[in-house]
Amino acid sequence: MPETTTTVPVIAIDGPSASGKGTISERVAETLGFHYLDSGALYRLVALAAMQAGLGLDEEAALAGLASGLDVRFGGGDIILNNKNVTDDIRSEICGMGASRVAVLPGVRQALLSRQQAFRQAPGLVAEGRDMGTVVFPDATLKLFLTASAEVRAERRYKQLKEKGIDANIRTLLQELRERDQRDSARSFAPLQKAVDARELDSSGLGIDEIVRQVLDWYRQKVAGSQV
Ligand code: C5P
Repeated sequence: MPETTTTVPVIAIDGPSASGKGTISERVAETLGFHYLDSGALYRLVALAAMQAGLGLDEEAALAGLASGLDVRFGGGDIILNNKNVTDDIRSEICGMGASRVAVLPGVRQALLSRQQAFRQAPGLVAEGRDMGTVVFPDATLKLFLTASAEVRAERRYKQLKEKGIDANIRTLLQELRERDQRDSARSFAPLQKAVDARELDSSGLGIDEIVRQVLDWYRQKVAGSQV
């Protein structure tokens, strides 16, 4: 008998920008053979599509319509919007800031909800974002809240950009991260916050392998615990 979507296990990984969620989630999903949802990409896509359509980033009704009709395909690591590969375009700081502006709008969040929940497919899902454990998958098998100091996160972002040959200023990056954190945490609808039943992990002094191992250990303990 096929599994119903609610019996498909979910690992929800939430946390602020550049906390390492993306890398950790991808690695955990790969190890377990699970699907992977980068929910931030959906908010970035709404921001990009809105800018392309000349919409203001506060026009809630129009943006909600745009979000529910988004013609997007994910596959092989690529993101295709309206038949155009936008994998790199949505990673720009402009799209990041735009995403955090459209993300305050309840109509946009609601429009993206079922799209995110549809990623819950057997054998399992690793979902990363801001409200995976609190709103989108409140019954997730394991919830993790990944943090790191703003300075460490700005430093990581700086290195990523430099590696891509993009010029960046660490002080500007730190200021933008703080602005984004403030907007993500202060919004009234689905703010960035730790779910009460989430495990918190500060990644500041840890390597990727260590974090991935820890998440897999916690997940396996959860699964073993639910089978006794
Ligand atoms: O994770 P990423 O930096 O790609 O997300 C971009 C923005 O999208 C975040 O700053 C946040 O405002 C918004 N977002 C959100 N809820 C999510 C994922 C992202 O509000 N689940």
